[in-house]
Amino acid sequence: MEQNTTATGDVSFLVEKWRDKKGSLIMILHEIQNHYGFVPRDISLQLSKLLDVPLARIYEVITFYNYFKLDPPGKYTISVCLGTACYLKGAPEIVDEIKNLLNIEEGQTTEDGLFHLDVVRCLGCCGLAPVMMINGQIYGKVKRSEVVDILSRYKKED
Ligand code: FES
Repeated sequence: MEQNTTATGDVSFLVEKWRDKKGSLIMILHEIQNHYGFVPRDISLQLSKLLDVPLARIYEVITFYNYFKLDPPGKYTISVCLGTACYLKGAPEIVDEIKNLLNIEEGQTTEDGLFHLDVVRCLGCCGLAPVMMINGQIYGKVKRSEVVDILSRYKKED
C-alpha cells in the first residue's frame, strides 16, 4: 500500500470494468479505497476526466461516505472512543492531547505516515472508559498524562 498522496496507477481499466453499470462511480471508488487505503487526489482527477464527472461531484461522494478516506492511512491507527461512557470519563481530553502531541486533527495522518487519528463510537469495553485503541491493541482507563508514553512506545518500535 502506498503511503503518499500521489499515486501513479492508471485507473482506466476500472472505468472500463464499471462503465455503463449502475453506481459505477461508487464501485470504482470502493476498488480504489480497498487498494490504496484511501482515494488519492491524482486518481480522482483521472476519474473526473475518464468518467466526464466534475471533480467536485467525486469529492462530494468521497466526503459523504465515512468509508472513503482522503488521506493515506498511518502505520498505526489510533481510535479514541467518544461513546457516552468514554466521553463522560474524559475521552475528549485524550483526543485533545493526541492532537497536540501529533499536530493532527481527527481523520488525519501525521506527515511521517506513522499515526492516523480516528474517533469512534463505543469500542465495546465501556467498563474500561476512557478507551483508546492502536492497531487493535486496547488501552483502558487512559489518563491524559499517559498518552505521551503510549505513543512513544510506537515511535520507538518504528
Ligand atoms: S463508550 Fe467507549 S467503549 Fe463503550
